[in-house]
Amino acid sequence: MRSLIDVLDLTVNEIDELIEVANDIIANPDKYSEKCKGKKLATLFYEPSTRTRLSFTAAMMELGGNVLGFSEASSSSAMKGESVADTAKMLSCYADIIAMRSPKEGAPFVAAKAATIPVINAGDGGHCHPTQTLGDLLTIKREVGRLNNLTVGFCGDLKYGRTVHSFINALSRYENIKIVLISPEELKLPNYVKYEVLDKNNMEYRETTSLEEAIPTLDVLYMTRIQQERFVDIDEYNRLKDSYILTLDKLANAKKSLAIMHPLPRVNEISVKVDEDERACYFKQALYGKYMRMALILKLLKEAEDKKKEERFSLDDVVINQYICTNPRCITSTEQELDHIFRCVDKEHNIFRCIYCEKRAN
Ligand code: CP
Repeated sequence: MRSLIDVLDLTVNEIDELIEVANDIIANPDKYSEKCKGKKLATLFYEPSTRTRLSFTAAMMELGGNVLGFSEASSSSAMKGESVADTAKMLSCYADIIAMRSPKEGAPFVAAKAATIPVINAGDGGHCHPTQTLGDLLTIKREVGRLNNLTVGFCGDLKYGRTVHSFINALSRYENIKIVLISPEELKLPNYVKYEVLDKNNMEYRETTSLEEAIPTLDVLYMTRIQQERFVDIDEYNRLKDSYILTLDKLANAKKSLAIMHPLPRVNEISVKVDEDERACYFKQALYGKYMRMALILKLLKEAEDKKKEERFSLDDVVINQYICTNPRCITSTEQELDHIFRCVDKEHNIFRCIYCEKRAN
């Protein structure tokens, strides 16, 4: 069954097609208003969400389909100890497609392996958030006009920011992308993204702690929230939470064509006064996310009808229970029956990563 767990599960051509469909939906919404008549989307949200869950809901409704699900783990049988795999099997009896958000990294992948219907990763812990990335790409395409030849600044929590990790992965496949990583020392981009995405794809990038210094060079500024829920130490969160606040003053030297993006929710990192600036794209970005989710639902349901099979990677490159994943946020830490499966991502340096959360084998 074809699911969407990571944005790299889609080829660049497939993303182009999704963008084309999303643009057509925007131009001709009536054409799509009954495309999913009789179909049901299950939204399984084990973690809070406003945009992703409700935009998936709106997307399915605007396609003429129905939605069922839960918005917190406490109202599901997860509270009684039901596994993600069993939940996915159950929902395969009740719905046609699943959108799942979980604090556990790899949970949507476990669901996809167990389900007989497509599963969409709606955000898993600090790992990835592919449908946010799809909306981000449509935003840049519509607001900047191109997906190549861009200097993109990422600012804030680059360590735990799943939106950042997914977006950088997606950008690695476009031409002449320069990346500026703006963060406090404590929240720098993880080395695995630097080495295995940026370096591997020969992408030009630099790191800085200064937003003001970076702004004039940027075509896109991607602000992110410092995420309290990812911190173990609340004092560290309080020390870092206001590291970057984008104000109109700071935009004085920015390009006129700059696109200011943010996956939202915002807490304090963009002054509300910036909302009136014509370069502010973040509310449009949330809207574009809905259209890309509509396009994605249509694609995955069509492929399910055509019984298109998906192999996310070759099983020749995996080892089973040879390593134990030590990431406390990995789904293997709670679903005890799961095999610990690692796959070789770099034969030359013998690097193995957990197939669920991408933590490197020790
Ligand atoms: N951008 C995003 O994922 O927002 P929510 O957490 O509100 O879904």
